[in-house]
Amino acid sequence: MKHRVLFVCLGNICRSPSAEAVFKGLTEKKGRSSFFKIDSAGTSGYHQGEPADARMQTHAVKRGYHLTSVSRPFDPFTDWDNFDIIVAMDDSNLLDLKEMARNKNDLKKLYKMTDFSKRFNYNEVPDPYYGGAQGFELVLDLLEDAGEGLYAFLEGEGS
Ligand code: 4NP
Repeated sequence: MKHRVLFVCLGNICRSPSAEAVFKGLTEKKGRSSFFKIDSAGTSGYHQGEPADARMQTHAVKRGYHLTSVSRPFDPFTDWDNFDIIVAMDDSNLLDLKEMARNKNDLKKLYKMTDFSKRFNYNEVPDPYYGGAQGFELVLDLLEDAGEGLYAFLEGEGS
């Protein structure tokens, strides 16, 4: 069965589209992309219809990731049922998602990206929007690291 994974941040123009691209890249590298459905969304609709932030794209491309997704808000009427695991980037995203959950089963789908970190010791993927280049690099570092952990969680021994 396919693993259906949704990454969620605030604007869906920096962190979650990067998470989507990094994790898709990882599943391709492992030859397992056909076993995954991977998407991203924002808790806000501020940037709905926009491509990923140009700064985020520039940093991602340098590592071989093309951010092709278009921003969309999380849809509580469809996304809870269309995904098995919903991965928030920070505590604020997580709280917003918890408030939209309909029941205990929805809540059980929620994680934070940093729950899957292996090398880094961060509790959130920090919002890079108002910062400089370092923030965008940190986002990619954290996503690559936690992506490995998430992959192992979903595809580890026994699954
Ligand atoms: P993201 O970054 O949540 O990683 O997409 C942000 C994008 C836009 C805003 C904040 C964070 N904003 O305030 O417009």
